[in-house]
Amino acid sequence: MWYTKRTPVRGKDTDMSPSLSSSKLTQLQTLDAVLAREIRGQSQVLPRISSVIRRGELGLSHPLRPRGSFALLGPTGVGKTEVVLVTTQHIFGADRLFRFDMSEYQTQESLGLLLGAKLGDVGFLGAIRERAAEGSLLFDEAEKAHPRVLDLLLQLLDAARLTTATGQTLDFSGFYIWLTSNIGSAELMSLQHSNEATLERHVLTRAQQSLRPEIFARINEKLVFHRLAYDHQLEIAGKFLDRQIAFLGERGHRLELHRDTLPFLVRKGFHPKLGARPMRDAVEKLVGDAVAECLLESRPACGVLSVDEARDCLVVR
Ligand SMILES: Nc1ncnc2c1ncn2[C@@H]1O[C@H](COP(=O)(O)OP(=O)(O)OP(=O)(O)O)[C@@H](O)[C@H]1O
Ligand SMILES: [Mg+2]
Repeated sequence: MWYTKRTPVRGKDTDMSPSLSSSKLTQLQTLDAVLAREIRGQSQVLPRISSVIRRGELGLSHPLRPRGSFALLGPTGVGKTEVVLVTTQHIFGADRLFRFDMSEYQTQESLGLLLGAKLGDVGFLGAIRERAAEGSLLFDEAEKAHPRVLDLLLQLLDAARLTTATGQTLDFSGFYIWLTSNIGSAELMSLQHSNEATLERHVLTRAQQSLRPEIFARINEKLVFHRLAYDHQLEIAGKFLDRQIAFLGERGHRLELHRDTLPFLVRKGFHPKLGARPMRDAVEKLVGDAVAECLLESRPACGVLSVDEARDCLVVR
């Protein structure tokens, strides 16, 4: 997490329209394109995210609630956290994303971590609010939180206001609230032959039970992410590979692609249970090893990046 002060472009307590800067307008106009460029597949959720963000940034959301709220549901490694990163970075800058792993907040005492346990202690949420007036609060694995922590989420979604141990009221009406959960997704494997609408219904029902119906009811958009189709796996491998090739290019290593390279990277970097989660490491390792091999043999790492099936690795030819 990073904490840097920036002047809020849009405050709920101020008249909105005169303060909407042209750069903010451009950010809103380009959000769809940025999401489509960075997030592969998941086209069923992207327009619903940008719609909430547009209304939030244009001052059209309820003034006494968060600017917008989302439940991002679905299997591991399919782009849920990536969507939050990309959206927040585009609208506010990456330093405005504040992340909480709710599996670390399973006891009643963890409430103190968030809102302070004694006088003078404002907790993590108080510290965030001291540093930023707007941004994103991301609560991963939300269903794992202690019931008292879930009460706090309910309050946050309902009134955008929380009280610290010091008695100070924190206003989160400038923030987007994102909850993520894999709930109901493990069973999707056994429901593989059902259609998408049935799968979505299953995940939504399970999430509503675990996250409490009253929390669920207060969330603007409940979005179910799908497993990544093979073409999207290829595109994600391509995205990481392009970045790696650009990075190596800056260091003088000019690499081109053989057409077998992407399918090989999907084989290595995509896992049925972990989705695209291992992809970044797989690309960095396999391409890095191929370049290192050239350098250790005192030859330039320039050429076609191809698959060596016998050695199960990439090589520069
Ligand atoms: N749909 C996608 N488009 C682009 N990149 C993706 C997509 N899905 C996954 N990735 C890449 O895979 C990695 C893991 O994705 P992400 O962190 O979004 O998973 P997640 O859905 O939040 O999973 P979890 O439920 O385990 O937190 C990221 O590095 C991301 O870049
Ligand atoms: Mg995640």
